Amino acid sequence: MSSVKFYQQENQVPLEMHKVRVVQKLNLIPVEDRLRAIQEAGNNTFLLQNRDIYMDMITDSGVNAMSDRQTAAMHVADDSYAGSESWNRAKAAIKTVFGVDNVLPAHQGRAAENILAETFVKPGKVALMNFHFTTTKAHITRLGGEVVELIDKKGLIPQSDDPFKGDFDLDALRSIIEEKGAENVAFVRVEAGTNLIGGQPVSLENMLAVTDICHQTGVVSVLDASLLQDNVYFMKKREPRCNYMEVKDIYHLLASRFDIIYFSARKLGFSRGGFILSTDAKWTQMMMEFVPLYEGFLTYGGMEVRSIEAAAEGLLESLDMEYISQGPEFIEYLVNELDAYGVPVIKPAGGLGAHLNCSEIVPNIPHNQYPAAAVGAALYIAGGIRGMERGTVSEQREPDGTERYAELELQRLALPRRVFTLSQVKYCADRVKWMYDNRNLIGGLKWTEEPKVLRFFFGRMKEIGHWQEELVSKFREDFGDSL
Ligand code: F0G
Repeated sequence: MSSVKFYQQENQVPLEMHKVRVVQKLNLIPVEDRLRAIQEAGNNTFLLQNRDIYMDMITDSGVNAMSDRQTAAMHVADDSYAGSESWNRAKAAIKTVFGVDNVLPAHQGRAAENILAETFVKPGKVALMNFHFTTTKAHITRLGGEVVELIDKKGLIPQSDDPFKGDFDLDALRSIIEEKGAENVAFVRVEAGTNLIGGQPVSLENMLAVTDICHQTGVVSVLDASLLQDNVYFMKKREPRCNYMEVKDIYHLLASRFDIIYFSARKLGFSRGGFILSTDAKWTQMMMEFVPLYEGFLTYGGMEVRSIEAAAEGLLESLDMEYISQGPEFIEYLVNELDAYGVPVIKPAGGLGAHLNCSEIVPNIPHNQYPAAAVGAALYIAGGIRGMERGTVSEQREPDGTERYAELELQRLALPRRVFTLSQVKYCADRVKWMYDNRNLIGGLKWTEEPKVLRFFFGRMKEIGHWQEELVSKFREDFGDSL
């Protein structure tokens, strides 16, 4: 996108290489109604109704705008339980993109994680990863396994200019395999575009070094490629050796080195569903029996055929830099705006979305009053903008019930691809700035209902004191009768 240079430098903005031909009407309800909606939702943005939301930035999962080719492909889907042509087309797309033949379907990314965990995790086994993702960890711990995170320490520095904060600490990886014994390691998992630390990429060099260590020690290597599209964009932009590689060459190289690659096609593929790829048919054989058990027959795996067609087309489109640059460049624009306003935000800009650093925004709110969730509620009140808590609420308690405080207290503002215009992105930055300027009004939250598993999805909380009402009064003072 940004290879188009503007004549007047001050006009330079990311320029889309697509046009919008289908639109959806949005609602921006008055601030008093926003207060009511967030309180009815137990201060959990997952429990808000879409009709009460202006900018839905909760996720990029399954909500990216599809291309005309993707929607066209959905019309030629072959609806059959077994042996569908849609499945054959998806396999062919995966062969083109990754160069791999062994493919299993799953209904989404976490279903692929369930199958992986069922196949490789046993009580007492350890899964090593740069960083966990919520659903990944839940599947591993459910089966009695342990997750150990080996993120390079640079990954947890909120503001830095390191281009690859998702990198593994390779020395730590070597020593823990030696210490635990390779036979006790379920697998090593590299998460591309490391979600919970701000969508931060992993370098190609680091990924390849991880696979080298796995090959030397005989440990299974797994790539979570759900966010690989953004990650590949950053490899191309930030890693000199990738500059001259085609996007496809990077995918092929990775697929030749990892034993298993899985991904959520709600992200990579801009559709729905999930896929598990293996370089060696023996891994596919091991995982195959779980597909009909949990997902569906081997040629649909719980996916709807139209989604399979859209994912196949979306995967092919993910080879096009003009398409895959849109997300990261809009995110960078938002991060730069926020940074210029002095709002603490994770830097450098990553994939997926902008991430507000709530420990700095509301340093007065302790972990056990959930600063990132409080900022999420405040931002919804400020602008009808729905983000996602990626802090202590998104952690799970230790087995003894003690709270596990998140390394980073983040409020994630995802930017679904091709969905928002730059004026909406500017509105978002403006409302975040207002919220930040009024941060002294924001207070903590306490649980009223706390589920045991993945509590961030349906747990409910209450404001401590009356800070939300005060925020609404201040909004009226500053914005008059504006929505
Ligand atoms: N792995 C990563 C890195 C993810 O970001 C996700 C989903 C999954 C696995 C699970 O995939 O949703 O298809 O079951 N991330 C979404 C998000 C939910 O909003 O970050 P899924």
